[in-house]
Amino acid sequence: GLSKEIEQLEGLFTVETQKLKQITDHFVNELEKGLSVKGGSIPMNPTWVMSYPTGYETGTFLALDMGGTNLRVCQITLTDQKSEFDIIQSKYRMPEELKTGQADELWEYIADCLMQFIETHHGDVSKMDTLPLGFTFSYPATQNYIDEGVLQRWTKGFDIAGVEGENVVPMFEAALAAKGVPIKLTALINDTTGTLIASAYTDTKMKIGCIFGTGCNAAYMEDCGSIPKLAHLDVSPDTPMAINCEWGAFDNEHLVLPRTQYDVTIDNESPRPGQQAFEKMIAGLYLGELFRLVMVDLHDNHSAHIFSGQDISKLRRPYTLDSSFLSAIEEDPFENLSETRDLFHTKLGIEANPAELELVRRTAELIGTRAARLSACGVAAICKKKGYTSCHVGADGSVFNKYPHFKARGAQALREILDWPEKTDPKEEDPIEILAAEDGSGVGAALIAALTLKRVKEGN
Ligand code: BG6
Ligand code: GLC
Repeated sequence: GLSKEIEQLEGLFTVETQKLKQITDHFVNELEKGLSVKGGSIPMNPTWVMSYPTGYETGTFLALDMGGTNLRVCQITLTDQKSEFDIIQSKYRMPEELKTGQADELWEYIADCLMQFIETHHGDVSKMDTLPLGFTFSYPATQNYIDEGVLQRWTKGFDIAGVEGENVVPMFEAALAAKGVPIKLTALINDTTGTLIASAYTDTKMKIGCIFGTGCNAAYMEDCGSIPKLAHLDVSPDTPMAINCEWGAFDNEHLVLPRTQYDVTIDNESPRPGQQAFEKMIAGLYLGELFRLVMVDLHDNHSAHIFSGQDISKLRRPYTLDSSFLSAIEEDPFENLSETRDLFHTKLGIEANPAELELVRRTAELIGTRAARLSACGVAAICKKKGYTSCHVGADGSVFNKYPHFKARGAQALREILDWPEKTDPKEEDPIEILAAEDGSGVGAALIAALTLKRVKEGN
């Protein structure tokens, strides 16, 4: 068997309660630091979203979501019925080559998708009124106003020259103008901010918006009085301001996270080494790659030599396995792991024996569990910082929605970090519940555009 190897992996990937608590405490300090004048690793970006929705917002808006995996265009009509809306939407593939291509090509592609959407739903563009648009641009951006965004750095594997350090809005608008698309960008938002606002629209207990997907991040509502770097604003200290934490950058200094050699490799081979330390241990983009690195290492360097004598050239290709591969392994219902065996055969051309299959399954569990437990530290840290002992957290993204056991593992970790007593009734709600969010980049973007227009009209 491979029980010695499994034990070693368990040692590397298991994060015990005490460690979770230590990470959370450090996280609270880092959130504070990000709000300070001097700043820290976590950007804690002010978003200029300065209120929750009331549920009575109205109007028709376009929303564009450039998240990483898909490009989505929506038209949302907020009706005069409380918290009700109509939505039509189209999804477009985000071509892989665009992510590391030229900036012009990216903006042109986006403008084309928008044009296509508008022509389908409005017919002749020359006859239509200009529509306000909420642009969900899910990367760290500095904003002095809600309708600008200076890209701090690309994340999630994007690497397009000439955009970092620049305001993306004029680039985007120039591409729209060149095609004659009648749209006015009203607000540039992050997916987490959209998730926070869309969730709070239908559930007033929602205090945090999270994304657990290709990337990992959160937003919450802070008081301006607790944001020293905004001390120059002439507002009362209890004025709300949504903060896009960009917590993927937590522990870029490598002080507390239990990184393995595999995490170090992921970082070194990424387009931005040294960045997004937390995200690289958690987010969907990296889970399959972590697994792949473990497998290759156990084949090449370890006395166990798994898959010995087999051609593992397919397994050697970086980023060849995405998180759905791990999901499928964790979901294999059969005692003999026959689905996993088939998966290895068809996808990788590898015949895995029973002992190897057991190791494969355990490795997927360890990686998936670590991701869920570490993400809970971020949620716990925001709650501790804000003094929330009971609230809802809205979450979206492929890992949260599709990765097996992610929710339960995260909830278990929260329970350990925050020392909640064991439930007497399994149906009982936890004091802090992480729940599936409303559509942040559609409804959230429309709501934020509506709140922005209202604020402008009122002259604030
Ligand atoms: C979607 C949201 O459901 O989840 C997007 O609408 C968000 O705004 C996305 O960016 C994140 O998930 P993933 O898995 O696509 O990165
Ligand atoms: C990355 C981005 C962040 C986004 C998250 C989830 O962390 O930097 O802006 O919210 O991914 O999509």
